[in-house]
Amino acid sequence: MIGVLDPTTPRGAKIQLRNLSRRFGGQAAVDDISLDVPAGSFVSLLGPSGSGKTTTLNLIAGFLAPDAGDILFDDRSVTDVPPHHRDIGMVFQSYALFPHLDVAQNVAFPLKMRTKLPKPDVERRVAETLALVRMEDFGGRYPRQLWRTAAAGGDGASAGFASSLATDG
Ligand SMILES: Nc1ncnc2c1ncn2[C@@H]1O[C@H](COP(=O)(O)OP(=O)(O)OP(=O)(O)O)[C@@H](O)[C@H]1O
Ligand SMILES: [Mg+2]
Repeated sequence: MIGVLDPTTPRGAKIQLRNLSRRFGGQAAVDDISLDVPAGSFVSLLGPSGSGKTTTLNLIAGFLAPDAGDILFDDRSVTDVPPHHRDIGMVFQSYALFPHLDVAQNVAFPLKMRTKLPKPDVERRVAETLALVRMEDFGGRYPRQLWRTAAAGGDGASAGFASSLATDG
């Protein structure tokens, strides 16, 4: 398993998006995106809720078909290849939170597990991190209460992201 986890071993395919577009009804969810992802690299798509991140990932995984453009893995077009033949893994954004903890507790959890920070420091770090992802007003909400507020579940993802950010320095 060590070889598999070794970050210096190049793995995976090069991914290229060429002028990719996808509309829902009259609205463009992804509008003429082009992106080159070198093999073995780690890439984050950052953007406000509704900006098309999940749609882009669904297009790459093959769960959605583009209206225009092309997707290439190692220079081969996979646009007409079904998801189960693309050899792609996708983790959905709703699984990163503890349902019985509110957002602030979710963010604090890994901090408490991994550090010996005093409680006021934990609370300060949680507040800073929630502010960073613009979720300062949602600290008291439980994960099941987030979906109602987000067009596409981005609040849950932001809380999950905050949870991993909080432990980082
Ligand atoms: N199945 C769908 N039917 C209709 N509209 C959709 C559908 N999926 C996404 N959209 C719309 O497409 C746009 C992009 O949504 P998408 O879910 O890709 O955004 P996102 O960047 O992943 O947002 P979030 O940060 O909330 O997860 C939004 O306006 C969204 O409402
Ligand atoms: Mg999304």
